[in-house]
Amino acid sequence: LITEVRSLFPALNRFIYLNCAGQGPLNTRAAARVASVLKIYITRGFLDISEWKAIQSETRSLLAQLLGASHQELAFTQSTTRGLRIAMDAIPWRDGDNAVVQERSFPALLYPWVHAPPAGVEIRWAKAPHAGLVDEIRSLVDSKTRAVFVDWVHFVTGEMVDLAALSQMAEEKGFYLVVDTTQGLGPVFPELSSLRIDFLANTAAKWLLGIEGLAFLYVREGAMDGLRPGPLGWLSGEYETFSRLFPMPDPDPGAPRFEEGSRPVILIAGFSESLKIILSVGKEKVAGRVRELTGQLLEALEARGLSIATPRQPRAGIVSFRPPGDPEAYYQRLRNDGVIVSLREGLIRVSPHFFNTPEEVERVLL
Ligand SMILES: Cc1ncc(COP(=O)(O)O)c(C=O)c1O
Repeated sequence: LITEVRSLFPALNRFIYLNCAGQGPLNTRAAARVASVLKIYITRGFLDISEWKAIQSETRSLLAQLLGASHQELAFTQSTTRGLRIAMDAIPWRDGDNAVVQERSFPALLYPWVHAPPAGVEIRWAKAPHAGLVDEIRSLVDSKTRAVFVDWVHFVTGEMVDLAALSQMAEEKGFYLVVDTTQGLGPVFPELSSLRIDFLANTAAKWLLGIEGLAFLYVREGAMDGLRPGPLGWLSGEYETFSRLFPMPDPDPGAPRFEEGSRPVILIAGFSESLKIILSVGKEKVAGRVRELTGQLLEALEARGLSIATPRQPRAGIVSFRPPGDPEAYYQRLRNDGVIVSLREGLIRVSPHFFNTPEEVERVLL
């Protein structure tokens, strides 16, 4: 099965591709699907509203299946950043509220909190590494905490925060839990119906093997009622036809209301093929393969006595280590050998997916 799937990813024939935390390689089925939509634009000029809706509905169903969520809980966004911003703007902040925000998060989460936070909200920075993060957040939360913003998996070290513990805390304390799952979803599959995550933002482009320019936002159904109505736009409600826009439709009761305007249907169509590949291999098998590969790599790094930034438990798909000598030179040697990884903060970040092999993973050891 893996050999068959590998043939769908031409980059895997040319490189030792171990960089899904940077960008997932594209598969030929997604590319063909993109081409099929482009062909309609080229030959006819426009998509019928029924075609336009069908593309989105198909991809939304696949995502719902992947996450254990419903259609109504999913919105397509342009980026993870946009999804997190929508959460910031939809949360009903009141005077005197505070937000607990993870300081070591990726800038998609961090940047807006540093440079454009919601007015009047006190920010309490949670600074601990992931291992101590839940305890620190617990100590920062009080009755005025309206929301907690965290990354699930650290983009450099692969450290993971315990979503079940945070989700239980959110249940007890009643704050909105907002999570960027971009570096975790794909190697690991949380069952959202059994967690209390209010907002989850994730890109299509990395572990889910989609194309850059598309992401999605999950908003828990039970959280919708208490939110502000927006951000909204003209496509926040469902039109039967584009021939008559008035009276304007009411905003969708669920997350699709946050799809504010025109969207990248071409990318949404391509993404459905990537999701079908992951679902056809199976969530458990995908997660199990990544675990095996990262476990094997951790052992090999340990055997060499290298300094490893990734804890054994819990872990997702990222394994980062400090190479001997100059990290930049090490990274360039790997590139010259056709081994694609990332260099992040002086560490070599290896991020294999289910289609990689044990032999490929060992190639990062020079
Ligand atoms: C944790 C995390 N979140 C988000 C992103 C990307 O965000 P966006 O989709 O807004 O470009 C990355 C990219 O490296 C990431 O590592």
